[in-house]
Amino acid sequence: MTTPENPNDVVASGTPGTDLTTHPERFTDPGMPEHQLRSTDTDPRAAKRAERTVIILFVLSILGAIGTIVAYVALPLTDDPSTVKAANLGLGLGLTISLLGIGFAAVHWAKTLMSDHEVAEKRKPVASSQEDRVAAVQALNDGVRDSGIGRRGVLKGAMISALALFPLTIAVPLVGNLGGDWKVSKFRHTIWSKGTRLAQDPSGRPIKAADVTIGSVFHVIPDGLREHSHWLEEKAKSIVLLVRIDERELKTTEKTKDWHYNGIVAYSKICTHVGCPVALYEQQTHHLLCPCHQSTFDVADGAKVVFGPAKRPLPQLPITVDDEGYLVAQADFDEPVGPSYWERLK
Ligand code: FES
Repeated sequence: MTTPENPNDVVASGTPGTDLTTHPERFTDPGMPEHQLRSTDTDPRAAKRAERTVIILFVLSILGAIGTIVAYVALPLTDDPSTVKAANLGLGLGLTISLLGIGFAAVHWAKTLMSDHEVAEKRKPVASSQEDRVAAVQALNDGVRDSGIGRRGVLKGAMISALALFPLTIAVPLVGNLGGDWKVSKFRHTIWSKGTRLAQDPSGRPIKAADVTIGSVFHVIPDGLREHSHWLEEKAKSIVLLVRIDERELKTTEKTKDWHYNGIVAYSKICTHVGCPVALYEQQTHHLLCPCHQSTFDVADGAKVVFGPAKRPLPQLPITVDDEGYLVAQADFDEPVGPSYWERLK
């Protein structure tokens, strides 16, 4: 037995202190295990069965995609919470069946019908040579040929239909005119309009400006909210936080200088990060904190973001008072409330 010159030399068994080069036989390549043919390689009926299974899975995916679109249209959301559950269930089931159908079909196809070559590759430099690239393209073409897509017409049709139909499950709600409840552009407006009184949440009692003392905070909804169809959805968009601060501490711009009444300001309560209710008001600093990810807004300075992941200020509701001294909106918010989304113009 040789004595190692370098104590860090190791053998395959992990014993320290033995020179690798003196035991080359321990590293003999065992080679590939004997190749086992699948039943679909030897039995044409098994191959046919596998093909039918793949077709059935793609058809299931097609039905799932159609079911999803039907759910968008046929299960409208109303004030009844059970309709939300039904819509979510319909959409969830449809999407699940559609995606799983495509996934299982692809895996089953690859495992049972595509060629079962076993390949051992040596490590190569990261950059491929031109020959390798040509070989890769060739392998790709061979794969397409191996998949048998050219001679399995029904399977090809089922696969193309399933893949072509699935994007509609996303496109339909984005286009938004089928089943108007899913129209994304509805987020752009709330039911606040000129003259709508500000009312306390949840009592619905209109708020007089004289009742709002410096430092006080009100959770506010539009007066008459419950008379609207879909009032819960409207409330989710139009909810407001009302604060009164010393008018001398208020920073306004040319555009917003008339949007408050004697230091009473109203801002959307929906965080511009991902939409949590912003409701923790710190009277000394005038900071409004979102409890979800700690975005902090400065109410004295246009509700600008002073900390946290939110990227834009809370939208302000321009307010004034009516003849009876009640606080009223001058108009809707001048920009969409809540988190940013792809249809926002600003
Ligand atoms: S939702 Fe308000 S900080 Fe994230």
